[in-house]
Amino acid sequence: MHILGLSCYFHDASAVILRDGALVAAAEEERFSRVKHDFGFPSRAIAFCLQQAGIQGRDLEYVAFFEKPFVKFDRILQTTFGEVPKSGAVFGQAITAWMLDKLWVKNRIREALGVPADRILFAEHHQSHAASAFFCSPFDEAAILTVDGVGEWATATTGRGRDRSFDLTHEIHFPHSLGLLYSAFTAFLGFEVNEGEYKVMGMAPYGRPRFVEEVRKLINVSPDGAFSLNLEYFEFQRSTTRTYSDAFVKLFGASRAPEGLFFTQASGFPSYFGEKPANYSELAAANQRYADLAASIQIVTEETLLTMARAACERAGTRKLCMAGGVALNSVANGRILREAGVTDLFIQPAAGDSGAALGAALFAHHQVLGHPRGFVMEHAAWGQEHSMDDIRSAASTTGFKVEECPDEDRMLDRAAELLASGRVIGWHQGRFEWGPRALGQRSILADPRRADMKDIVNVKIKFREPYRPFAPSVLQERADEFFDCAGADRQYPSRFMLLVEPVRPEARALLPATTHVDNSARLQTVVPSASPRYHDLISRFGRATGVPVVMNTSFNLRGEPIVNTPGEAISTFARSGLDALVMDRLILHK
Ligand SMILES: [Fe+2]
Repeated sequence: MHILGLSCYFHDASAVILRDGALVAAAEEERFSRVKHDFGFPSRAIAFCLQQAGIQGRDLEYVAFFEKPFVKFDRILQTTFGEVPKSGAVFGQAITAWMLDKLWVKNRIREALGVPADRILFAEHHQSHAASAFFCSPFDEAAILTVDGVGEWATATTGRGRDRSFDLTHEIHFPHSLGLLYSAFTAFLGFEVNEGEYKVMGMAPYGRPRFVEEVRKLINVSPDGAFSLNLEYFEFQRSTTRTYSDAFVKLFGASRAPEGLFFTQASGFPSYFGEKPANYSELAAANQRYADLAASIQIVTEETLLTMARAACERAGTRKLCMAGGVALNSVANGRILREAGVTDLFIQPAAGDSGAALGAALFAHHQVLGHPRGFVMEHAAWGQEHSMDDIRSAASTTGFKVEECPDEDRMLDRAAELLASGRVIGWHQGRFEWGPRALGQRSILADPRRADMKDIVNVKIKFREPYRPFAPSVLQERADEFFDCAGADRQYPSRFMLLVEPVRPEARALLPATTHVDNSARLQTVVPSASPRYHDLISRFGRATGVPVVMNTSFNLRGEPIVNTPGEAISTFARSGLDALVMDRLILHK
């Protein structure tokens, strides 16, 4: 039995396909359309899923959509009517958009796939999030916590899952939203909402949380995990262009110029920013206040999540926890939940944001609606498209680069490890691309983490990222605790998916300068041999050559572009960047 899950028309569109409850394929539309955060109807991701399953649309038993469009529309109507006349503009925009596309999603699915209307199911947005975590987890029983910006009405839920069903017993409703609180600061700090949240998290360790008391004026959290926002500080409930109000500006001062260069005395002024401004010290001091604000909102978010996680576990009577929703991508908070909330086992799947809700909707249909037993655990993130050696050879043949074809995998892994150990920065394109926003060794840029200058080298050559955004280390799972003070976190699933930030051991900081953040933490990925055999083997060989079984891993894309999918996209990125070599399956391209 095949079930297709869909998420679209909001943030990141995606499609997944299950066969008898086991995941066959999952992909975000942006990887095919090459439009970052593409939220349109995911025609290409659907075509890929059907092809991977070897079926046509009419062979699908069910299609499951990740939210209930009419309920969401009702929320938009009610909240905007409640704020008339202030919300006139948002009402007009919302009604036009919804009438055109979103409400008629059922027709769109019927037309695209030839599936009868009674085989199209709609889960609630947070049910989809919850199902995406619990039904992919190895837990028979667990507490569930979902937290995001907003779905239909819910912005956060807690509940309990057991076997093939779950109950979400507690909900927090729009406009009270931890995700939207974080987004308000993301916008205030000059970053794009739904994109810059990572930047706020990366900026936070450069600051001191001296505005925590002010931030607490914006949110009231009770010990049972319920919270409410102080709405006078926000505009998102009635505006599509502003998230925070004049009262917010009065409390925190002027906002940071959008997308302006950010640096503090601690971060320094990297060469790829251009010439150092004459008033550098003055600008660095001004930026320090924004770093302090980032630190403050990050702490309040972490504390709120800790309270919610504790309450969810207490009510469910278990110390196993499943999390989902965009806020579950806050890897610093996740690390603290594991260390401080009394949680013994944590599960988060890699696409914890809205793209992952497509997976949840399909699993919800399979287990909770149809009552089928469970049997699937998400052991790895490689659910996207893969490309044959023939495809790779043919893409490489039209370029002017020197091509080296290794006779077998063993030789390729030795050559790639050699390149890394000699300081080369390589593109690494292997197998099926990753599910979710992180590169996890399928479509990655890899480098030597032992070199202090490697962060700048990769930034200058390829990424042009802000100096406060750390690069991640991928470490062999069995050796993680030699380098990271993870107290068992390295054995947890979120660590496979780069969703936990952990302290770097004092003795390892000098060994891993390129991947150790300013606060001596790292957003590590533990690489498990059974789940990622080829990547594990590469890191093992690099470890044998250097004594450090860790590589620096960042996503294989240029700034502003989605992560590469095809060999052609990998070659184009290679050509337009300062990458030294490109390893695709057994083929190596050199400059
Ligand atoms: Fe969501």
